[in-house]
Amino acid sequence: MKKHRLAILISGRGSNMEAILSAATASDYPAEPKLVLSNRPDAAGLQIATKHRVQTACVDHKPFGSDREAFERQMDAILQEHQIEIIALAGFMRVLTPWFVRRWTGRMINIHPSLLPKYPGLNTHQRAIDAGDPEAGCSVHWVTEGVDEGAVIAQAKAPILPDDTVDSLAARILPLEHELYPRALAEACQSLK
Ligand code: GAR
Repeated sequence: MKKHRLAILISGRGSNMEAILSAATASDYPAEPKLVLSNRPDAAGLQIATKHRVQTACVDHKPFGSDREAFERQMDAILQEHQIEIIALAGFMRVLTPWFVRRWTGRMINIHPSLLPKYPGLNTHQRAIDAGDPEAGCSVHWVTEGVDEGAVIAQAKAPILPDDTVDSLAARILPLEHELYPRALAEACQSLK
């Protein structure tokens, strides 16, 4: 079977990245992780990737200041070098420019900790609690120019309990993310040429 060359973009802990790396060890998984790319040199996920024997790279966004496209051009060059076919954003906390998104349209997915279209952007769990929602969750979606607006591939849900805090809710949702993301990525691979 065809295994698509995968890059995972991270900014921090990398637990979703690790869930994908683990799933991708299966012989019938349709993606092969070729690169983990971080915008933060201190991202804990870089060491986890190295333990999994996946090549890592870092393009620190800070020296680029407000020139987001220059930062992305450097990332794009590294992605091209590795002949990447599909990108999974996994806790990658930079908003991407239309230039980068257009280059990777149909080949880039993201995990977001809400039941999209509810709560794009930040502080999703707090916003769900504040709104009195009965449930929260996570979504994997195609990346388009509008932040967190692309078509949803798959979602998972959990109840919000009366005493929930952001931390307790996040702790309930995170294992669902780890189950959801590898499955949704496999599904996304089916639509690649
Ligand atoms: C995850 O909860 C992910 O859904 C969220 O950041 C966390 C990253 O954790 N992503 C976003 O908020 C994107 N806007 P991880 O580094 O352990 O995977």
